[in-house]
Amino acid sequence: MPIRSPVSTLAWICANFIETVWKKILFSRWTKATLFAVCLIPAALLVWRGFQGDLTANPVEYIEHNTGDWTIRFLLITLSVTPLRKIFTQPLLTRYRRMLGLFSFFYVCVHMLMYLTFDQMFDPAAIWADVVKRPYITVGTAGLLMLIPLAVTSTAAMVRRLGPKRWQLLHRLIYFATLAGIIHFYWLVKSDIREPLMYGVILALLMLFRVRMWLSNKPTSAETRPLTATRT
Ligand code: HEM
Repeated sequence: MPIRSPVSTLAWICANFIETVWKKILFSRWTKATLFAVCLIPAALLVWRGFQGDLTANPVEYIEHNTGDWTIRFLLITLSVTPLRKIFTQPLLTRYRRMLGLFSFFYVCVHMLMYLTFDQMFDPAAIWADVVKRPYITVGTAGLLMLIPLAVTSTAAMVRRLGPKRWQLLHRLIYFATLAGIIHFYWLVKSDIREPLMYGVILALLMLFRVRMWLSNKPTSAETRPLTATRT
């Protein structure tokens, strides 16, 4: 049996200590609560700016744009969990994916509510006419409709009810919802396409990572396990 040198033993103890502390942090409900609070910051800032009367000359447009941006950002952050988990071998990161996904849904709901309330005054005929007439609204609506079943089936009970395979297949809709959101953004900008393009490149990189992962086809125990949220 090989004998460890004192230096490598010390390094081993340190590495184990750091890993234990890191695992404790990832398992802690305080970390979850902190992440929840962080995800609420964009909404809190909107409320704060609203009270300050600081939502620009066109508050509705400002809120629509702000919540639209945060929807795409949260979708991309949610999609980054699997690559990060794989690259850094941190299966516990999956614990946070459901919350991040639900925050995308929260921001898109506020986004759409602003549109329904202030742009369309809840007039079903006007909403339908707009959805049919303006392609960017059509594709945005498609994105939202795809996110609804994902939010509804995001619980552990729904994973069990659907079965992990079917659940995973359904939750692949997130790729198409994100793509729809990016196309929606790209179609609505008049001249400066840098931001939607940047989101498009990020989505393409995240998808490339997945394609490589699927091609290498080496499922790990963490992937096959029907955790509260499985792979997205
Ligand atoms: C996945 C779903 C969606 C995503 C990711 C999304 C994202 C976005 C983004 C990023 C913007 C532009 C923000 C900026 O200019 O900085 C935006 C604007 C907008 N979105 Fe969405 N959106 C989605 C769904 C919807 C839906 C369902 C509707 C309404 C039916 C909608 C209506 C609008 C409107 C009216 C604007 C402002 C357009 C303008 O000022 O010209 N979006 N959205």
